Amino acid sequence: MTEAHSPSAIPYDRIRAVEWTDYRIRLIDQRRLPEHTEHLMIQTLPEAVRAIREMVVRGAPAIGITAAYAVVLAAGARYAENAAHWRKLLEPDLAMLAEARPTAVNLRWAVERMRTFTAGLTGDPVPALLAEASRIHTEDIAANHRMGELGAALIETGSGVLTHCNTGALATGGYGTALGVVRAAYAARRITAVYADETRPWLQGARLTAWEMVEEGIPVTLLADSASALLMKQGRVQWVIVGADRIAANGDTANKIGTYTAAITARHHGVKFMVVAPTSTVDMATRDGAHIPIEQRTESEVLTAGGSRIAPEGAHAWNPAFDVTPAELIDAIVTERGVVLKPDSTKMAILMGG
Ligand code: MRU
Repeated sequence: MTEAHSPSAIPYDRIRAVEWTDYRIRLIDQRRLPEHTEHLMIQTLPEAVRAIREMVVRGAPAIGITAAYAVVLAAGARYAENAAHWRKLLEPDLAMLAEARPTAVNLRWAVERMRTFTAGLTGDPVPALLAEASRIHTEDIAANHRMGELGAALIETGSGVLTHCNTGALATGGYGTALGVVRAAYAARRITAVYADETRPWLQGARLTAWEMVEEGIPVTLLADSASALLMKQGRVQWVIVGADRIAANGDTANKIGTYTAAITARHHGVKFMVVAPTSTVDMATRDGAHIPIEQRTESEVLTAGGSRIAPEGAHAWNPAFDVTPAELIDAIVTERGVVLKPDSTKMAILMGG
């Protein structure tokens, strides 16, 4: 870990899920949390692809950063294999990496940025590519700090907030997107209560968000996803704050399954709905949410809990990992470039400079 990626002096910024150390990627194994804090060392691009697919590392920005470092590993291996044609040999590696998970656009964004960067390189590509991957990592942390400030400013003092999935340090280069806003707002004493959906079926809320909050000393209250309507009806939360895996050109937002339900429920109860994501999550090439590919994951994630079968043999499961929240249900999209209130195609185009 370089100094730029180290835990910072900003309050509640102590956790790093992805590190580069001794020419390897060091990942917190998120399948093992919260019982075990173990690390997995990644030495090759295929190992990184497996780690992304199997959710050792997950969360759109963290996947992108891991992919950027994986390109460094692969380019080093291909250069050692054939110094004259390493770029050509790297292409299938990049394609495999970009396909590891389909919904989070940060993965493709990072692979494309690294591919573009290879174009001008001469000699051993590793030092320059490592510097570029490290910049992607540093920029992500800086974006999260900025979004934390911008998002916290939208929250009135005394508010309760509900978050879904895990969007914190574990899901990013550090600090988090939606959970970065929670961190910043809690530090500014604006938030009185943080509620986290457990986030069935993979339990990112129960296992990861709760772990981060406990580690940082921020009080957190977990609830079953199905309890959120009652939570809102009782007036316990004023904002729902979530991250994004891909924001389409019109502001439609793909995020963890259940986000759409939370957005509909929030609108019904007059609770505000905030999406927090860096511009690397905005995909202007995808017109609207209907065109965002939704990952389907294995049935076993739904049919089992904690490794034990909870449904009878013979039952099947439908397991879309993400859903799309239409832009009209979103009150604010917070990015490092600024806040878009009531997003639509025109406002998103202005944000993205198009
Ligand atoms: O399947 P996951 O755990 O990778 O899904 C993660 C999410 O949906 C997050 O909300 C999203 O990636 C934003 S993380 C800053």
